[in-house]
Amino acid sequence: MATGTRYAGKVVIVTGGGRGIGAGIARAFVESGAQVVICDKDESCGRAMEQELPGSVFVLSDVTKEEDMKSLVSETIRRFGRLDCVVNNAGHHPPPERPEETSIQGFRQLLELNLLGMYTLTKLALPHLRKSRGNVINISSVVGMIGQPQAVPYVATKGAVTAMTKALALDESQYGVRVNCISPGNIWTPMWEKWAAAMPDPTAKIQEGTLAQPLGRMGQPAEVGAAAVFLASEANFCTGTELLVTGGAELGFGRKAAQYTVPTEAQ
Ligand SMILES: NC(=O)c1ccc[n+]([C@@H]2O[C@H](COP(=O)([O-])OP(=O)(O)OC[C@H]3O[C@@H](n4cnc5c(N)ncnc54)[C@H](O)[C@@H]3O)[C@@H](O)[C@H]2O)c1
Repeated sequence: MATGTRYAGKVVIVTGGGRGIGAGIARAFVESGAQVVICDKDESCGRAMEQELPGSVFVLSDVTKEEDMKSLVSETIRRFGRLDCVVNNAGHHPPPERPEETSIQGFRQLLELNLLGMYTLTKLALPHLRKSRGNVINISSVVGMIGQPQAVPYVATKGAVTAMTKALALDESQYGVRVNCISPGNIWTPMWEKWAAAMPDPTAKIQEGTLAQPLGRMGQPAEVGAAAVFLASEANFCTGTELLVTGGAELGFGRKAAQYTVPTEAQ
């Protein structure tokens, strides 16, 4: 693997770095010369990434467990002596659920993973990021801005991630720590594949996801990785920003009413 110098000598933690978008981000940072600490709760994919990427280290850890996040940060400092960037990527999109099908407990668990997991690690990392005048990159989602049918809990967690990014950017600017988020659209990952497989017609769902972008294709994890390296290494005057990596999915007007089944009594 060719190693560049855009982020040479820097140390980056990537959560959920074992596969999908997180793996794309970990690869992009290694290619830019950084040392990468991969956090994942899935040991097999985390170890496989560690093998693939020279200069990376895998730490088996779950972002919803505060003790795991403490060990992740202390292990990073023990091995590399510094921390320059935290990429909060680990997250989950549950299968489609109408509001009446959602459970409060399920919503609470999703908040723990998609929102509080990000905050826990960030809070623990801040003393080190202040020393290095580093940065945080949260992986949000375009649906946090534009909504998505049958996904109230997911959309709420991602809207909160984007809002949290802006609030933290304000508080941390005095320490020279930048805080930004990336909002991907449809990116072809194991999560997307699993999500489509759970649909009555997976091929039609994938086709729909492909055509949702004016660019006529889904994005690749490497393209989110490129955006993350840009934010960390070159976007020195960007903080509190939401970088859309969507192939233009949010642009224009389109037929939207047909997505919903209107209950008979409301017709
Ligand atoms: N794929 C998309 O189209 C898309 C679009 C917008 C936003 N996102 C966001 O991007 C992020 C990554 O999505 P993906 O599609 O790559 O998902 P994925 O399921 O393919 O990969 C997620 C990785 O995170 C790990 N993980 C899950 N829970 C964890 C936990 N508690 N602790 C540590 N690791 C954990 C998994 O083991 C896995 O390796 C998520 O936050 C998701 O919401 C994805």
